[in-house]
Amino acid sequence: MIEQIQQLEQHIFSDLDSVQNAESLEEFRLQHLVKKGTLGQLNDQFRNIPNEQKREAGKTLNVFKNKLMSLFEEKKASLESSDTTEQIDVTLPSRTTYPGSLHPLTHIMDEIIRIFDSMGFAVASGPEVEEDFFNFEMLNFPEDHPARDMQDTFFVKNAADKTVLRTHTSPVQIRVLKNSTPPVRCIVPGRVYRNEALDSTHLAEFHQVEGLYVDKGVTFADLKATLVSFFEQLYEGQKIETRFRPSFFPFTEPSAEMDLRIAGKKDAQWMELCGCGMVHPQVLRNCGIDPEVYSGFAVGFGVERMAMIKYGLTDIRDLYDNNLMFLRQFV
Ligand code: DAH
Repeated sequence: MIEQIQQLEQHIFSDLDSVQNAESLEEFRLQHLVKKGTLGQLNDQFRNIPNEQKREAGKTLNVFKNKLMSLFEEKKASLESSDTTEQIDVTLPSRTTYPGSLHPLTHIMDEIIRIFDSMGFAVASGPEVEEDFFNFEMLNFPEDHPARDMQDTFFVKNAADKTVLRTHTSPVQIRVLKNSTPPVRCIVPGRVYRNEALDSTHLAEFHQVEGLYVDKGVTFADLKATLVSFFEQLYEGQKIETRFRPSFFPFTEPSAEMDLRIAGKKDAQWMELCGCGMVHPQVLRNCGIDPEVYSGFAVGFGVERMAMIKYGLTDIRDLYDNNLMFLRQFV
């Protein structure tokens, strides 16, 4: 029997060595390693040899079996690791690459500018670090006027130093009017700052778009028609309801605030989207424009709030969390 094993060894290991793929490995297994194969036959034979030969033969048989099994496992492992087709799980979801996209505030700003552009409004701008003179004084907020309290001002150094982070985009009305003769039709998109406690509808740094139209014979009806038409275009496809409430701003007379909600939406809340009014005669005078000849309207929109309605947000802070899951919805 020992001789037989030695003969077998001559070719069985080289047979195994030349196996190149999973199928021939399986053939090899069926031919040699199962009960009815070579190993099984050797075991049967072993049982039948005379007892005095069993010791030697058993040793040789075991060494052979162990060697064969370990070479077989080695072969199997090496075939599996080189067989890449079996390792790719085609059912796994692929890694997604996301395209970059504009921030929802950029989207809505672009949209606002586009709509006003179509109505003949140019874009103007002014500094974010502003003088008290433009932010308040020329807008008819005299020093110590209580209306200044409404604005929760950030002072760059202190209240005595007359430099502030602009609390609204209205100072640009002054900068524009001082340097032009009517008709004036412009909007001012920009960032503003308020020393305010943050909550779901308030931020300390946010965006406004100022609108200004000064010409002969401009009336409150022009203001209303312009605003309603603007909102209808901004919320195109959604049915909106608007309402005006009387209000107070030192630089407009009369003054109003406009609220908006999506019509027919369950639990839809009115959201205040802008302050507006007819430019105060004193403001026109401050800028060298005769209020007997000219009149105008002004409006200041809260951009984040307009975005909340447009995108159905309940918390204004979502716009600044930079949560990718949130931002990716606005591709
Ligand atoms: N500047 C005001 C604010 O931020 C908003 C505002 C009200 C702007 C009335 C206007 C206006 O142009 O006419 O509180």
